[in-house]
Amino acid sequence: MSIQTLLQVNDLVVDYPGKGFRAAPFRALDGVSIEIGAGETLGLVGESGSGKTTLGRAILGLAPVTKGRIQFEGEDIGSASGKKRRSLSKDIQVVFQDPYTSLNPSMEVGDILAEPLIVQGRSRIEARARIVELLEQVALPKDALHRLPRDFSGGQRQRIAIARALALSPKLIVCDEPVSALDLSTQARVLDLFLDIQQATGVAYLFVSHDLDVVRHISHRVAVMYRGEIVEQGDALPVTTTPRHPYTRRLLLASPVPDPDRQASRRAERKALATAEATTATL
Ligand SMILES: Nc1ncnc2c1ncn2[C@@H]1O[C@H](COP(=O)(O)OP(=O)(O)OP(=O)(O)O)[C@@H](O)[C@H]1O
Ligand SMILES: [Mg+2]
Repeated sequence: MSIQTLLQVNDLVVDYPGKGFRAAPFRALDGVSIEIGAGETLGLVGESGSGKTTLGRAILGLAPVTKGRIQFEGEDIGSASGKKRRSLSKDIQVVFQDPYTSLNPSMEVGDILAEPLIVQGRSRIEARARIVELLEQVALPKDALHRLPRDFSGGQRQRIAIARALALSPKLIVCDEPVSALDLSTQARVLDLFLDIQQATGVAYLFVSHDLDVVRHISHRVAVMYRGEIVEQGDALPVTTTPRHPYTRRLLLASPVPDPDRQASRRAERKALATAEATTATL
């Protein structure tokens, strides 16, 4: 890789404990390997339940690492805890899907943005200066400081969540479906904001989405997850336009197109692929 590797995940296995007495554990990730360079975006696509959020959570230290290795800047962080995790939170941040539940509804925006700064030991005055900068960076008005999350639209709330993630100038942000809850035109604007921020700060993203059009737009490389495994990864354009794996082709065909004739032929092709897969599976 020409750019400096920031995050490296090797053969990661995540088992969730089974529910109930003697229940077998559930293997949510099964030998996942990915790499993200400094300033790079890796798009992660896959259907619901394929393990995308679990991979993000494992990187954030929120899902159990059963086997395998997670390295950040060459250091093993798979089992980091306590003090080490707190210091990692400067470097690795997160933006979640739902802008309505990810912000504390009773806190003013200024306090939401100040929190990570104060926790890391900045003074109130330093925090205040940084917050003004952050609001500008995500194109929110200065008077947002004294308002509550409920005073903002979904897209604006996501801007607040992005500002909060940026507060400590992280090197990597795990973005878990950050535009999926937004309408199409808002999606496009928030995606452009992610791109602008990357240009300005050099932050890297692990960008989770079930939408191939979204990941194509934002990613340098794309990894495709299917039932806890990465089935295909490579440069964004070939993976999202001429995928090699039948599952990725099915994902591609599942995204809606405006033309009804094309839509019908894609549906037929998708069916044929699914049948072919089922036949192979029973062989
Ligand atoms: N805490 C948990 N305990 C047990 N099983 C879990 C837990 N979290 C997730 N799972 C299971 O692990 C699998 C992967 O879940 P995950 O949330 O990572 O999928 P996803 O790809 O993010 O899906 P979606 O697109 O719906 O967000 C699913 O089968 C899910 O039911
Ligand atoms: Mg998820």
